[in-house]
Formats: sequence, structure tokens, C-alpha cells
Amino acid sequence: MTAPREQFGSRLGFILAAAGSAVGIGNLVGFPVNAAKNGGGAFLLMYAIFVFVICLPVMMAELATGRHSAKGPLGAYASLTHGNRMWGIAGWLSTVTPFMIAVFYTVITVWLFEYLFSAVTGDLDVLADPATFGAFINNGNIFIHLAIVVAIVNLILVGGVKEGIERSAKILMPALFMMLIGMVIFVLTRDNAMTGLKFYLIPDFSKITGPVVSGALGQAFFSLSLGMGILITYGSYMDKRSSITSSAKMVALADTGVAFCAGLMILPAIFSFNPETDPTQLSDSSVSLIFTFLPKIFLALQTSIGYMGASVVASVFFLLVFFAALTSLVSIIEVPAASLVDQKGYSRKKALLILNIGMVVFTIACTASFGMVGWLTEFVHYAGSPKSLFDVVYDIFYDTILPLNGLLICLFVIYRWKKSNLNEELETGDDGFKGSFLERYMNFSLGTFIPLILALIFINTVAIKFF
Ligand code: PHE
Repeated sequence: MTAPREQFGSRLGFILAAAGSAVGIGNLVGFPVNAAKNGGGAFLLMYAIFVFVICLPVMMAELATGRHSAKGPLGAYASLTHGNRMWGIAGWLSTVTPFMIAVFYTVITVWLFEYLFSAVTGDLDVLADPATFGAFINNGNIFIHLAIVVAIVNLILVGGVKEGIERSAKILMPALFMMLIGMVIFVLTRDNAMTGLKFYLIPDFSKITGPVVSGALGQAFFSLSLGMGILITYGSYMDKRSSITSSAKMVALADTGVAFCAGLMILPAIFSFNPETDPTQLSDSSVSLIFTFLPKIFLALQTSIGYMGASVVASVFFLLVFFAALTSLVSIIEVPAASLVDQKGYSRKKALLILNIGMVVFTIACTASFGMVGWLTEFVHYAGSPKSLFDVVYDIFYDTILPLNGLLICLFVIYRWKKSNLNEELETGDDGFKGSFLERYMNFSLGTFIPLILALIFINTVAIKFF
């Protein structure tokens, strides 16, 4: 006899864990800069509309599929289709994708850990030196830091759903919210903060172009951790008494709220700590912003609050982003881990051990593809330039397969599993759902325009990225 499936201990625990997954580097750094550069308030408005009009139904579809099947994506697609081969591919895609995204996310989390370490030990001027990032990512110490990050993540995961994931989210997420609010208050009370605030919030509808619209949707989709099998897996640990609808709304609100607050922290900081900053210098890439641009800004802060003070602010910032990355990483490794436990009957420890060996090998290869090893650095050629292994993983899994997975789950719940089953699952634990506007909206949108939009994004990305 197998033990009953573990469940989250409380609704709040589930919400914090799912919000922990959703709140990540994408919210804290990617969102503010994208918003500021692409229309400010106009981008924000469009983003919020996408979160609720497009992403929320997909999120609920994933949660319902997971809770009904009580399995990770591999088992969910298999059991709800009685082992259909084609849908089995969707299950595999939703299992391999998180594994590969975990690889590139681990690479970045390790860098974050290095920066956190240096900020805490007072090496702010080293961090602010433009040469530091290149030196850091090619330094052998990185492998020690990789071991530490992998150890922390596994210490959480090995505890299981309630004692590991939920318990860590209950500590890390409130700590993250408090640090974020503290940072926002600190930044907004600096001189010159208003300039940044205006840059961030004043709507400029002329900036809203086709690519900006699809960028905002992509950002919202990634930010809510959709298409990665995460919500199917977390749904499988939800009890039948909780309302999927209201939990999903809370997670979407928390995620969007954090993204918004991150803008209140980052943009005014850029202007007030260093008024000479030229906003056009801002890079779209979260990576270059965190690791090369912001350290310079933190160093500039020393003129007003001293070197120690500036180091403290930088340390809090890196700790904040590190916590956000950790809780996302935990959620994404849980997906293939759950699949191994469900489908192969492995113990949790064995599943984690196997996954970690694979992940560490790929992560080392990706880490080494920033110059340490030539053939990994120039791994393949496409779209007219050489790509590193890291680029390939990013382009294929993050940019391309995510919308495809989203498309598949929409088609699955409406046309294969069927609306009536989806509705029944969503009604469980939620008396108000039956006959509601949301129910009608879900049934219509998930079968029509949402998959259509995701299909267009998928085709467009393939065309742009690889040809
Ligand atoms: N939502 C996360 C973010 O915004 C994305 C993510 C989730 C990445 C889980 C990896 C794992 O960064």
C-alpha cells in the first residue's frame, strides 16, 4: 500500500508556496525595467489585464488538472487520457521543460549567491567594477557556490510538501515581503525619487507596439509560473475543500503586487542614488541589470549614507532576490521530482538524488558555456550567430516551449478532459463557481482565443528565434 499523497497544510500555506514560485527574478527585476521602457503606466495596465484575462484561466486549468488527477504533469496527462500517447507527449514536455528551466535558473541563482556573499562581506566597490561580472562567472569558486545553492534547495525539498516547501515559503515569503516594503520606503524617501517614479508610472500609450504587447504577455505568463507543470504539481497537493478560484486569484494578486512594488523600488533607486543615470542605458536583460548596473547604483549611494550603509542596502537587495529565486527553484524541481515519485514509484530522496545528478551536470555545462569551455560557449549556430549552451536552453525551453505547454493545457482541459469535468473540479470547494461569470468566461476563453494567442506566440517565436 502506498502512503496517501501529501497535501499542503493550509490554504495560506498553499498560497504562499505558489506565490513563492511565481515571485522570482522576473518580477523583481525584469518587470520594472520592461515597464519603465515600454510605456510605464500603459504597460502596467496592459500587464494587469493579461494577468487576469489570459493567465488566470490557464492557472486555474493547471491547478484543476493537478488536483483532479492527484499527479504531477506526467501522470496527470496519462491518467486523465487513459494513457493516450499523444497527450503523453504533453506530459513529457511539462516535465522536461521545468528540468531545463531549473538548470538555467540555477546558473543565475548561483551568481546571485556570489553577489550576496560579496555584498555582505563589504566588497561593494568590487561588485561595482564592470569587469567583476565576467571574472565572477568564470571563476572556479562558482562550483563551490553551486554546491551550496543545490544543498539549500534540496534541504527544503527533501522535507516534502508540508514540512519542506510549505514551511520554507512561510518563512521566506513574509521575509521577502518585509524586505521589499522596507526597500520601497527607503528608496521613495530619497531625494529625487519622484523622477524615477514618473519614469515608471506615467502612461505613454505611444510606446505600446506589437512586440511590446507580446512581451507583456510573455512576462505575465512566465511570472505566474505557467506552462512549467508547476501549478499542475502544486494543484495535486491541494485539498478538495479549498477553492481553486480564490487561491489562484490571491496568487495572481500577490505576484502582480510584488512586480509593481519592485518597480517602486528599482526605478526611483536608479534615479535618486545616481541622478546622472541615463534611462536609455537600461538594458532589457534582468541579468545585466542585476549584476552590472545595480551594483554601480548601490556604490553611488555611499555619498549619502556611507559605505557601510550602502553595503547594507545592497545586501538586503541581493538577499531579497536570492529568496525569490530559491522559492521559484524549489517549485520547479518539485515537478520532475513528483513525476519520478508518481510514475516510477521512487522514494522522494531517490528521485531528488537522480534529478540532482542530472541537473548539476547540465548546470556545470551551462555555467562553463560563458567562456570557460570553448565548444560549450560556441555550441551551435542559428539565426546568424553562435549560441552558447546557456542560450540554447534559454531559447528553446523558456522562450519557445513555455507558450506551447500553455497552449496544450488549454486544449487539453476543454477538448480532451472536457469542460464538464473541469467545471466540476473547479466547483469542488467553491460553491459560488457554478453558473458564475467566471465559469462561463473560463469555458469560452480556454477553448478559443487564449489557445489561439498562445499558438501565435509560439509560431512567431519559432520564426524569429530559429530562422
Ligand atoms: N515566476 C518566476 C519568475 O518570475 C519564474 C520561475 C518560476 C522560474 C519557477 C523558475 C522557476 O522569475
